[in-house]
Amino acid sequence: MTEGLSQHRHISFTAHYTGYIWYQMGISNPIFATAKGKFLAKLAHPLESWAERYVGGSMRSTLKQRHCMIDEHLYQLLAQYPKLQVLEIACGLSPRGWHFRQKFPDLVYRELDLPDMAQLKTQALQQLDPNSPQVLSADIFSHEFAQIFQQFDAQYPLLVISEGLINYFDKALLAQLFQAISHHGQRFPEIHYLSDLYPEPVKNKLAHIIWSSSKLLKFMSRSAFSFHFTHPQEVRQFLTDAGFQTSNIVQPKYYFQAQTNETSAEEHSGDLVWMLHASSRQSSR
Ligand SMILES: C[S@@+](CC[C@H](N)C(=O)[O-])C[C@H]1O[C@@H](n2cnc3c(N)ncnc32)[C@H](O)[C@@H]1O
Repeated sequence: MTEGLSQHRHISFTAHYTGYIWYQMGISNPIFATAKGKFLAKLAHPLESWAERYVGGSMRSTLKQRHCMIDEHLYQLLAQYPKLQVLEIACGLSPRGWHFRQKFPDLVYRELDLPDMAQLKTQALQQLDPNSPQVLSADIFSHEFAQIFQQFDAQYPLLVISEGLINYFDKALLAQLFQAISHHGQRFPEIHYLSDLYPEPVKNKLAHIIWSSSKLLKFMSRSAFSFHFTHPQEVRQFLTDAGFQTSNIVQPKYYFQAQTNETSAEEHSGDLVWMLHASSRQSSR
């Protein structure tokens, strides 16, 4: 489906790392653990261990936090909207689609990625279950993205998920992505969007080390990897500007203590990763 090579294709290698760490943590399936992921995990292990000891958290510790927060919100949304349809963009080697399709056999859960990753993931999924739907192939910054929304039933609500994605883009592209989700979501009675994001690590003593690591990631992924937001309110305003009616920022420090998503403290909790939940309802537009 995607014409030519996406300028964002160099980001894809990071999905192998995450996929392998989730497998190591026991929250994925060996089918999503690639040799490339294993190699990267070995390479990053000393730095990750050092960060856990001295920074109080690492890239791999945030991988579990963000994955759990998104999963738990997805369970809650499914309880609230039994006909919810899901589109997970930039799915990489995440086990989420497979997990949820197993638990909810009638759930329409489509995954999407750039062509090479979409093909690799489709092959992996089909080894687990020959009836797995094909992973959709599109660049979310191309005109193809609009067509993806046409594949869902406009009678039922749609949830878009992204994980480990949005920090790779500059703010202009991020605004384009949020606006596209909000705009194409107008076809549906309700549109929801769940995503993790890495805020500016301002409250962290070793922020400059985190910034240096992010520069390495930026270089390796040939992307604009950056931290765009310092306060939850800035993210919420950005989502409002993109057309969403409501939004909530979930911070692990409060969320895992309280076990509730009611907590939307407006202060930076010091966490390395947050989760956003934005939504709009058609009837009140
Ligand atoms: C950092 S990985 C995250 C993958 C997975 N969600 C995870 O948490 O491990 C980013 C993913 O985004 C995909 N990606 C990057 N730019 C994209 C674009 N413009 N359109 C679609 N997918 C994209 C990459 O191929 C890669 O699989």
